[in-house]
Order: sequence, then structure tokens, then C-alpha cells
Amino acid sequence: MKKARIIQGGTVVTAGSVSVADIRIEDGVIAAIGRSLDATGAETVDAAGLYVFPGGIDPHTHLDMPFGGTVTADDFESGTIAAAFGGTTTILDFCLTERGRPLGDAVAAWHAKAEGKAVIDYGFHLMVADAGEQALAELPELIEREGITSLKVFMAYKNVFQADDGTLYRTLQLAREEGALVMVHAENGDVIERLVSEALERGDTEPIWHALTRPPQLEGEATGRAAELAGLAGAPLYVVHVTCAEAVERIAAARARGLRVYGETCPQYLTLDISALERPDFEGAKYVWSPPLREAWHQTALWNALSSGTLQALGSDQCSFHFKGQKELGRGDFSKIPNGGPTIEDRFSLLFSEGVAKGRIDLQRFVELSATNAAKLFGLFPRKGTIAVGSDADLVLFDPSATRTLSARDHHLRVDYSAFEGMEVQGEPVSVLVRGEFVVRDKQFVGQAGSGRYLKRSRFGLGGSLALPAVPIGGSPS
Ligand code: URP
Ligand code: ZN
Ligand code: ZN
Ligand code: ZN
Repeated sequence: MKKARIIQGGTVVTAGSVSVADIRIEDGVIAAIGRSLDATGAETVDAAGLYVFPGGIDPHTHLDMPFGGTVTADDFESGTIAAAFGGTTTILDFCLTERGRPLGDAVAAWHAKAEGKAVIDYGFHLMVADAGEQALAELPELIEREGITSLKVFMAYKNVFQADDGTLYRTLQLAREEGALVMVHAENGDVIERLVSEALERGDTEPIWHALTRPPQLEGEATGRAAELAGLAGAPLYVVHVTCAEAVERIAAARARGLRVYGETCPQYLTLDISALERPDFEGAKYVWSPPLREAWHQTALWNALSSGTLQALGSDQCSFHFKGQKELGRGDFSKIPNGGPTIEDRFSLLFSEGVAKGRIDLQRFVELSATNAAKLFGLFPRKGTIAVGSDADLVLFDPSATRTLSARDHHLRVDYSAFEGMEVQGEPVSVLVRGEFVVRDKQFVGQAGSGRYLKRSRFGLGGSLALPAVPIGGSPS
């Protein structure tokens, strides 16, 4: 047994409680929680005045991902180091697949990207682009062997990632049978393709047209469509990167009918708005995400959905491209700007600062949104996502009184800009442990590339379910 470690006197926060306590760690796992634990023979770490949160779980990242003829600026090494500095100890990354290529090859390729590099724990979601015989034959075995219990279907990116409704429906049916959770990128890709062509034909080529050709109606429509198909299939559904009131309304309506529809939003949609795409000198390209940034009033709808429970999680959708040489590929044609931005490092702190410090959510909701709910939805609970005896000792020692200004000068990503440049935040992760070992200690990196472990996950609903409508009304009978 390795020497035990005791985190002393911190304010320990879980989804269910807030209390000053010591946490004893043995062999990477939480062995005891209580007042004044016996520290004989253990290394002690003073956490007085700090919050001790469960390590953040980021359910939505794209590291080392090819997109638009280029590859993301950050890989599993720089991306997970930045995540750790930001208070995240687990990521779930999207394994991309190609039509006609065995899914198992794609999974093997994703393992190769992460192994020897990741400094925090990681799992994969698997993209389904077509539900042909080969894919349907492979999926049950992959779900079992790899513990990949979430599948991703893109309803947008026509002729690239987009799947048709038949594929989405078939994937939902399979997921219901196999105990997997289907995740959708919900935008109407067919209509977007039309609007993009029309804009380019008119000569409207600036970054702002990226947002104007992907209106919120098309996100709302696709969200509602996916929810209906999930209801018909009797399967749960998770909508990634929700940006607008239209999509929130569809999710709320589905949940009110008892459908198991869940959703996430991302820090960029809570803190930035469509005006960023109009920044001069092509800087608007830095703020090109799909779905796009919206008019600022949508932020209120998103915060309300996070606090009321219509949305359950905050994902970063980390997908960084350098401004120089990568975002610039879209000069003269907004449709060639690689989509995505750097968000993995600031997700946790922005939720605390904009959420807790500004009184929009309480501490418990913060823990649910940053970690616990994702652990439950994605088959990691209670090993991850909480502070309990027997759980992995993934912990964030967080100073709520620190203030700082976010900047590319200080971040730990390779990408050459920050999406949140100049933003003032309240609160800062000081030290971060993964399975009881420091990865960041007193704001210094002390981890090791390759120390992150691959996570095989439980099937949907087995890893601790969220308090939600259990019986899908209008779903197929079981
Ligand atoms: O713009 C984005 N969101 N890029 C990453 C790919 C995706 O759609 O999640
Ligand atoms: Zn494997
Ligand atoms: Zn997406
Ligand atoms: Zn994404």
C-alpha cells in the first residue's frame, strides 16, 4: 500500500452536502471522510479555507481531432494538462468514425491518440454515421468490450459527419436494447447547407454569416425531432451543446411528457454572444462554433435551464484551432473556418464564477453540473463524480476568494488565443488530484504524461440514475 494522504479541514462539497471534513485517501480511493481523522503515518495536506470539490467531469471534448482539412491544435497531452489546471479530472472524448470503415479501427485509433499522453482519466463516445449491417453487428460487442456506453449522431455537417433520420432512429433502437445513451448534435444540416450556399452566392463571406446561416429555429427543430424519435424508440437522449431558448423549450416539453431527454450547454454559450463574430480583422473567426453563439438574451434561458434542471450538465466542447493558419483557412469563405474553440481549461471556473459567485446556482448545483450528473448519465457514478468512501480520489482544492483575469498568456493549451481573453473570474483551482495523486499542486503541474487511465463505463442507468421520469410516455412498450 502507498502512503495514505489526508486532505485536512477543507469544505467538502458534494451534490448532497456541504461540510468541513478531512478526507483520507488510500491507494487512490477515498477511505474515510470525517472530522479530525487520525493522521498517523499519513501525509497531510492543508485545505482550510478551500472548497474540496469532486474532480470535474467534462463530457464533451475533441482532442487530436481532424476537421475541415486540419487537426485540432490541442491533443490528449496539452488538452488534459489544461483540463487538470482547470479542475477537470475526467474527460469523455468523441471517437470519430468513417463510413465503411470498421468501428473497432476507429476506437483503436482513438486509444492510440490518448495512450502515453493523457494526464487525467478519459473515456470515449463513439460516433455512428451509418447504421448499416456492419455497424449494427459491431456495436454490441464494442459497447461490451470497450465500455463505450454512449453513441454520437450528428444531425448537421452535411456530407461530412451528418447521419440521416433513419440512422438516428436505428441507433436509438440499438441503444435502447444495449443500454447505451445516444447523444445528438441537433441542427438541421440540410437546411443549413441551403442557407450557406445562398449566402456565399450573394457574396456574404464574413464570419458573422456562419451564425446567420444557422438560426436558432434550426436547432430547435432538430432538437424536437430527435426527442420525438427517442420517444418512439423508447430510448434516452442527450442533446449536446444546447445554445438557445428554442432548443431548451423542446427539451423541457419532452421531459414534461416523461421522455428521458437530457441536455448540456457549454461555457461559451453562457458568456459570449453573436456580436463576437463581428470583431474586426477576421477575429470573429475565433468565435465560430456550431451551433453558433446567439443573441445575448438566450443566456438567460440557458441559465434558467441549468438551475431548474432542464439541462443537466456543462460540457466544454473543447475543439481548438489556432487563429494563425487554421481559423484563417476561412478568410473569404466563412464555411471554411474550422468550427470550435478552446474551452476545456475554463469550463469549471466559469461555471463557478458566473454561476455560484453571481448567485445563479448554489454550490450543490455547481457540483451536479460540473461532475455528478455527467458521471450518472455516462456510467461513471459513484466511482467518479462524487466524494464518498470507495470513490476514486479525484479532487479539486478550490480557492473561492481568488480573482484572476483569463488570458492566453496564462493558459496551458497550445492554441494561440483564449476564447475568454480578459474575462474576470472569481475562484481558482489550487491543487487537483486524480486517483489520489497530485496532477496540479499549488498551481504547478506535477503530473506525468500517460498517467491518465482509460475508463470502461457502465451501461445507461446502471451507474446511478438521475431522478427523472422513469417511464417514457409514448415510447414503445417494453
Ligand atoms: O463547433 C464545434 N462545436 N466544433 C466541434 C464539433 C462539434 O460539433 O461538436
Ligand atoms: Zn480498447
Ligand atoms: Zn457538435
Ligand atoms: Zn463537440
